[in-house]
Amino acid sequence: MSPPIDMDDDLVPMWQQSKIIHQGAEAIVISGNWMGAKAVLKTRNPRSYRHPDLDKRLTRQRLSVEVRVLIKLQSTSIPSPSILDVDIDNGWILLSHISGVTLYDYLLGGNSDLEPIRNLGILIREMHELGISHGDLTTHNVMIDDDGQLNLIDFGLAKIVPEIEQLGLDLQVLNECLNASHHEYENAIDTIIEGYTSLSNDFSPSGDEVVERFNSIRGRVRYHA
Ligand SMILES: Nc1ncnc2c1ncn2[C@@H]1O[C@H](COP(=O)(O)OP(=O)(O)OP(=O)(O)O)[C@@H](O)[C@H]1O
Ligand SMILES: [Mg+2]
Repeated sequence: MSPPIDMDDDLVPMWQQSKIIHQGAEAIVISGNWMGAKAVLKTRNPRSYRHPDLDKRLTRQRLSVEVRVLIKLQSTSIPSPSILDVDIDNGWILLSHISGVTLYDYLLGGNSDLEPIRNLGILIREMHELGISHGDLTTHNVMIDDDGQLNLIDFGLAKIVPEIEQLGLDLQVLNECLNASHHEYENAIDTIIEGYTSLSNDFSPSGDEVVERFNSIRGRVRYHA
């Protein structure tokens, strides 16, 4: 498999790349143009410390869950990138480009408005009610687009039909991220929970039940810390 930087037009037809926007431990994300539309190409890096077979299996697994979740979200009101093309075997996915910033950068920019934080709580609950847990719910994986709308991205660790534990863990991962990176937004998790529990409770598990599980996970983490 060619690394993404060398990807040529044969591998990703109609693709013209412009620049690398993210080079992480797992993925490289490149912005560019696909048939005239702004798009991003996300490719998984081969991890040399993993056995190649295991690495390939993990890449396929993460990419296929990401594709399944994004397809599911397309027919809902949850904003997320659309899939333009995908090649599971070669480990890449082509997504519509979200013009905006990550919630991480937005909050670091010192915006004191709590509305996006409350709206994120609502959005997480809507995702959970669809039967999806995110699996890596940090502020790097939420984008605010130029219209001020929150978009969810990066579903490689998502679960379809999750257990209540995974729903509670989404809130705990976000809680840890808010404490570690955005501590100036005091009690932000309470605002998230306020949004999360503001929807009607006639879905099982209810918002209150998930929050109860989150509180017990939080307690366990504190106890072992
Ligand atoms: N559709 C998109 N439009 C605009 N920017 C995007 C899009 N998808 C991803 N990005 C940018 O690329 C970054 C990384 O993407 P993503 O979160 O999907 O990869 P990742 O799996 O977290 O990578 P790693 O684990 O290696 O850090 C995002 O935080 C965001 O800044
Ligand atoms: Mg990410």
